[in-house]
Amino acid sequence: MTQNTFIKLKGISKSFAGVRALQNIDMEIQQGEVRCLAGENGGGKSTLIKIISGFYQPDSGTIEIDGNEYTSLTPQQAIDLGIQVIYQDFSVFPNLTVAENIALMAERQEGKRIVNWKNVRERAQEALDTIGVDLDLDMLVGDLPVAGKQLVAICRSLLLKVRLLIMDEPTTALTRTEVESLFRVVRDLKAKGISVVFVSHKLEEVYEIAEQLTILRNGKKVIEGPIKEFDREKFVFHMTGRAIENLPFEPTEIGTEPLLEAKNIGIKDLFRDISFALYPGEILGITGLLGSGCNELAKALFSMEKITEGEILLEGKPHHPANVGEAIRSGIAYVPEDRLTEGLFMPQAISVNMVSAVMKNYLTRFGFIDQKRVEEGSENWIRDLKVVTPSAELPVQALSGGNQQKVVLAKWLEISPKVLILNCPTVGIDVGAKADIYQLTRTLAAQGIGVIFISDNLPEVLENCNRLIVMKRGRMVGEMDAKNADEEKIEALLSADREEEVIR
Ligand SMILES: Nc1ncnc2c1ncn2[C@@H]1O[C@H](COP(=O)(O)OP(=O)(O)OP(=O)(O)O)[C@@H](O)[C@H]1O
Ligand SMILES: [Mg+2]
Repeated sequence: MTQNTFIKLKGISKSFAGVRALQNIDMEIQQGEVRCLAGENGGGKSTLIKIISGFYQPDSGTIEIDGNEYTSLTPQQAIDLGIQVIYQDFSVFPNLTVAENIALMAERQEGKRIVNWKNVRERAQEALDTIGVDLDLDMLVGDLPVAGKQLVAICRSLLLKVRLLIMDEPTTALTRTEVESLFRVVRDLKAKGISVVFVSHKLEEVYEIAEQLTILRNGKKVIEGPIKEFDREKFVFHMTGRAIENLPFEPTEIGTEPLLEAKNIGIKDLFRDISFALYPGEILGITGLLGSGCNELAKALFSMEKITEGEILLEGKPHHPANVGEAIRSGIAYVPEDRLTEGLFMPQAISVNMVSAVMKNYLTRFGFIDQKRVEEGSENWIRDLKVVTPSAELPVQALSGGNQQKVVLAKWLEISPKVLILNCPTVGIDVGAKADIYQLTRTLAAQGIGVIFISDNLPEVLENCNRLIVMKRGRMVGEMDAKNADEEKIEALLSADREEEVIR
């Protein structure tokens, strides 16, 4: 058996300034094995991955590869040994084009001194074709939506020499079709004897693709084994240490006067003719696939994009703020999908990020930041949202992905909004924290806030909204009470779209 082991970790531990991120972890990965690394936000998954890829040095323990024992790896060593990682934040270069991002590194790895641009384009196209996606080679990666960036990162690693491909939440922003292509690629890699380790908070996907499972909690390995030995309940229980149940949302009381109304609004080429009313106490779900216009609609409601048709009313009055600042002052809050670029100042303290939308409430009479009140304010959010951190003064970038998302939420809740727009708020969030966020959304609705909940995860919108709007290709194709909806009904509305495309 041993000759089939690609990597063997023994007793790996790692601490950061008092946080024991990993404690005495043993893990073996066989050649051609697909292993899922699961666990709550802050459990230590990314840290373990960064140790395998040489980004961090462990405090103790050893790493054995090809019979050689290492106390730590450098990033170059890891690459030379065939370890490739797609990180949670993708590490793509926003100022380079799609083609450059995908293929430049491979050209360099092969020691080519002079870049052959024709080659770069051809190879990039090839990689895109392998996973069956259609991206413009010349587009700047910075201009792509999150899913696009994720696909670029995946394509890039496919071109490099790889024996172990590690993916830290590779599917967070992908649609079902893209996920299927990615999984096809994973099965191909496996057939070639390449090992794959991936992190995912989407249990359905774990069951679909993983053979082996390792669960980390609070830096410790709690259990591991073949995935078929874990039913859903056992899986969730080991991840969170508790049983989780999410009951459908029943609004306590819905106001009679609309809070926010959209009247035939549209933005040229993005979406059109959208009308709805949001009442106090409601959670209104909006769902659709990539390209449906949901994302742009969310931004338009927050005045990040200007509508070119129709009208928006806030509490019955025409609402056309000149910019985001005015939108915030009028009581609209927006939790963006892409927390890395739109939501947070990564190097800044957690506390500062939490209060940054209303910094003026935290100034002293003389205009200085009142550090004590900032701390108090942020401590409350850390407690209420269960943010896992030893201190509010750590930079946000030291938090795990899911905990960063909670900081974004805190930042917007801090302004006590009338309308809260959540754009895919649970992407990358573990099952336990997801349940917390759902609960929190309900509590806010019960206080009379109107919530718009955008998500392409159908079970999630069905359980957490009282009303639903379905969008495709920039149009509203359905509006219904969540009570009268189910996944099949929505899928039917969404997939009609694809058939039309085929006919054309
Ligand atoms: N550079 C760092 N400085 C300080 N603390 C860190 C650093 N990196 C990670 N940590 C801490 O180590 C712990 C493990 O974090 P890690 O990112 O590995 O979790 P994770 O399992 O990947 O979580 P998620 O599912 O949210 O991505 C967390 O408590 C985190 O705050
Ligand atoms: Mg992580």
